[in-house]
Amino acid sequence: MQGIRDPIVVLDFGAQYSKLIARRVRELNAYSVITPYNITVQELREMAPAGIILSGGPSSVHQPGAPQPDPEIFALGVPVLGICYGAQLLAHCLGGRVARADKREYGIAHLAHEGDTPLFEAVNSPTPVWMSHGDRIEALPTGFAAAGHTENSPYAAVADPARHFYGVQFHPEVVHTPEGMRLFQNFVHTICGCDASWNMESFSEDAIEEIKTRVGSRKVLCALSGGVDSSVAAALIHRAVGDQLTCVFVNNGLLRKGEPDLVQRVFSDNFHVNLVYVDAEKRFLDALAGVSDPERKRKIIGAVFIDVFEEEAHKLGHLDFLAQGTLYPDVIESVSPSGGPSATIKSHHNVGGLPEKMNMALLEPLRELFKDEVRALGRELGLPDEIVGRHPFPGPGLGVRCVGEITRERLDTLRDADAIFIEEIRAAGLYDDIWQALVCLLPVKSVGVQGDERSYEEVCSLRAVNSTDAMTADWYRFPPELLQRVSNRICNEVAHINRVLYDITSKPPGTIEWE
Ligand code: XMP
Repeated sequence: MQGIRDPIVVLDFGAQYSKLIARRVRELNAYSVITPYNITVQELREMAPAGIILSGGPSSVHQPGAPQPDPEIFALGVPVLGICYGAQLLAHCLGGRVARADKREYGIAHLAHEGDTPLFEAVNSPTPVWMSHGDRIEALPTGFAAAGHTENSPYAAVADPARHFYGVQFHPEVVHTPEGMRLFQNFVHTICGCDASWNMESFSEDAIEEIKTRVGSRKVLCALSGGVDSSVAAALIHRAVGDQLTCVFVNNGLLRKGEPDLVQRVFSDNFHVNLVYVDAEKRFLDALAGVSDPERKRKIIGAVFIDVFEEEAHKLGHLDFLAQGTLYPDVIESVSPSGGPSATIKSHHNVGGLPEKMNMALLEPLRELFKDEVRALGRELGLPDEIVGRHPFPGPGLGVRCVGEITRERLDTLRDADAIFIEEIRAAGLYDDIWQALVCLLPVKSVGVQGDERSYEEVCSLRAVNSTDAMTADWYRFPPELLQRVSNRICNEVAHINRVLYDITSKPPGTIEWE
């Protein structure tokens, strides 16, 4: 069985698609990890990779300081697949020649493959492939032969079957290369010999063993938010160490309707987790009184959370580990050579800064997983769909959706409107088609007529978006009847709202949350 010891290692040369490559490999039930491009051959050897993929990247091999792998990796005797810049590197590092192409190739091209390379087993010829490159391979290193060409690239695919080295100028990982998965399958299963045994069940067994060994008889603290990540982390750790885990759930007064009950029901009643429920609503709302500035709100919510959480932890005596639901995308964001510091658009506050402050070791059992894998793991552990299938919810909660001043009354209004919106989306069977749906209460009032009377009440805006990684998002096209039903219900059933808007802003320029 393939464990986490013989992964397909993706060396990241700054490609926007590195994560997607790792995903594709995992979709084939083989374990994959992304590492920085400059990992040493020694470190790589210790990982005992079944195969290596060199990602694409924005550089040209001829640029001074262009990222290059440790040349010794080609002597490991492990199969290598170079993608785009990775293919050029393969040629460049092994003695071939790469030069600027006369014509930049961008978009769909048609690849005809040549010879009978195992990489193209059962792939049509020609087959559409997605190209995006300025340089191209002009002369092959010794041992290599052309394995496929397009109109503009005589060496769109190259192969040295004896050493199991393959390079493709196109991007098999994107959906625009329809047979890309077949190609990965050939590389991962046939060429690298991975046996498709990696799945959430095997991951969960390995992870539970690892947690048991690491924690021993010591104690773990987990800040449970009710969101997918912390819930799955808590369920996994509980499976591993049972009562040595204590979860603290802070009701900050900024939660969705019914959320505190749901978390208590699932974790206390069903899973019998040691759960400390802290009602800190008043404390948060007092600290937020009169504050409208979005960044100040975020800072206050983060700071009060840390205070409350620390006080509760203190009452529990000494605890050794702090569990966090950190995911793989958070971990690998920092390894990309192009991933320099990006501008802070919004300060994200969950439990950032806590571990250092509390002098606890971090336990991050999900740091190998992507979001949808975390969901699959949650289901595997028996968490209900109400939790694992839930849309993302920001750490500062309704605090950043109650635009303008935050009061208990406005929060209740927002909670009621949000519950109706989500209920109608679920009733229409659309919940799982949408990345995130939410309601914002706006800091304006509007005149309306309700019954025969003039009203002067709050305005809310519905927002629903689709996205793959929350970095960009597009607004969701609802059937108009659904919007009409939601609008009618909110105006009729929610006290203090007399006008409902639908937000049709993409990200960018808008962000998903309003604040
Ligand atoms: P924005 O509004 O920046 O949000 O487009 C992108 C995604 O992140 C979520 N979000 C947060 N998540 N802590 C979180 O854990 C935060 O402080 C936070 N702020 C925004 C947001 O809901 C969306 O899914």
